[in-house]
Amino acid sequence: MSLISHGPAWAALQAHWSDIDRLRMRDLFDDDPERCARFSLEACGLHVDYSKNLITAETMRLLMALAREADLDSWRNRLLRGDKVNNTEGRAVLHMALRNLGNRRYEEDGEEVMPGIRSVLSRMRAFSDDVRHGRWLGHTGRRISDVVSIGIGGSSLGPKMACEALRPYQRNDLRVHFVSNIDAAHLMQTLDGLDPATTLFVIASKTFTTQETITNAESARAWCLDALHDEAAIARHFVAVSTNRDAVAAFGIDPHNMFEFWDWVGGRYSLWSAIGLPIALAVGMDRFEELLAGAHDMDEHFVEAAPEHNMPIVLALLGIWYNNFGGSDTQAIIPYDQNLQYLPTYLQQVDMESNGKRVTRDGDAVDYATGPVIWGQPGTDAQHSFFQLIHQGTRLIPTDFILPLASHHDLGGHHDKLVANCLAQAQALMRGRTADEARAELEAGDVDAGRIAELVAHRVFPGNRPSNMIVVDRVTPRVLGALIALYEHKVFVQGVVWGVDSFDQWGVELGKQLAGNILADFRRITCSPGVDSSTASLIRRYRMAIDE
Ligand code: F6P
Repeated sequence: MSLISHGPAWAALQAHWSDIDRLRMRDLFDDDPERCARFSLEACGLHVDYSKNLITAETMRLLMALAREADLDSWRNRLLRGDKVNNTEGRAVLHMALRNLGNRRYEEDGEEVMPGIRSVLSRMRAFSDDVRHGRWLGHTGRRISDVVSIGIGGSSLGPKMACEALRPYQRNDLRVHFVSNIDAAHLMQTLDGLDPATTLFVIASKTFTTQETITNAESARAWCLDALHDEAAIARHFVAVSTNRDAVAAFGIDPHNMFEFWDWVGGRYSLWSAIGLPIALAVGMDRFEELLAGAHDMDEHFVEAAPEHNMPIVLALLGIWYNNFGGSDTQAIIPYDQNLQYLPTYLQQVDMESNGKRVTRDGDAVDYATGPVIWGQPGTDAQHSFFQLIHQGTRLIPTDFILPLASHHDLGGHHDKLVANCLAQAQALMRGRTADEARAELEAGDVDAGRIAELVAHRVFPGNRPSNMIVVDRVTPRVLGALIALYEHKVFVQGVVWGVDSFDQWGVELGKQLAGNILADFRRITCSPGVDSSTASLIRRYRMAIDE
């Protein structure tokens, strides 16, 4: 077994952390006026200032050595070549092909995949144009006013995040909604007020067997038939996005109304495929293709740029620096853009489902932390909820700020204040406030000496808290595509260094399996043998509640 943690690059970084931990970021800035320029990158419409990290040039050199030791170059080539890098599922990972607007050749088992991708893209264009221009009508001849996408996980989070991010590009006569939770509230509350005659359902599921999605889809079909009283209506009100044609047909959706994708598209990497159909419906196919173009720009950057100038590689290694050497467990994502409100949730799946693994590709247990806990919400709201802990708590929480320089809304003074707040948070995290500074401020405020002595410790900010500032001009479809692809590749690079399969998700299976058993136990007099006393008691309690 050869774990990356047993190699020389890991040991060098471990030793280096104790040197770095002694440094103060504010001193590093004072000593080097070029620090920001030295630690900034520009690519694909994104500017990444990573100078507010606990790093020196030596740190970056050691981190790059770690990437080399993990054989990153060759893993990237395997990904591009269509090798089965998802080894536990025996699958290639080709989501880059979905946005391949250049002439790179992508193959799966020796077969070119681009013709199939182009053909689905053109069907998506024809369909989304028809719906948007009122050529695709409901069963009673009325125009579609609402699209309800039913899916969960990777079949929902990406399109939902992107539709919200691109809300300024949406028309208000065609609303797009997302239902994922099996909790009836989600479907019922979404359908409340919608007209079945003008509602189109997109049932999105790679497998077309996911319990939540199929249950919601069945209830949606009943809701539709209840109002339209004709099975033929399903063909005008239901389309599917899936890899499973037979299951789509068995559900009752005409396979002509199915948009296909392929098993080499991982669920959490699927928004670029037909899973993105709700995005095309919401903002139009031209804009969906701009989104693909932005992601393609980032793919090319990831493939071509030298590691030191390669945004995904640099961000990945910085994450590893804190996760594995600085003892940090989490990563906060704070977009200063209300429309990016679902980005942290979306990235939770991309990152945590990909790298939340405890064994390497070979099945050996790792002896280091893998994927961090990803969390966050938009600023400035975040400042008024959990930022206290990031500033003055005991934990080290690396933070990514995402900042658009221009808003889609020109409303006197708002954007200046938003940007000022974002910059101030990053600055405060980096600089902190020393005891002397805290004391001086209190003295200037005429606070008496006894009270100052009591308050100083509470008003000290340790600073030295790392952050990246990802700046974009404005959140356009192209910029959004590049931003998402940046995180996808970052996660890939981290998975390579940790030696895990970032493309499987066995951890979600056990719960699904047990839910099936428990569901059956609700209808039995006694629980199945072997059920623990806690679960059995909860099952009994639920049975009693439904019997009342
Ligand atoms: O439960 C996790 C998961 O398997 C994800 O990986 C996937 O994105 C999601 O469920 C939905 O699966 P499907 O698209 O097959 O319904």
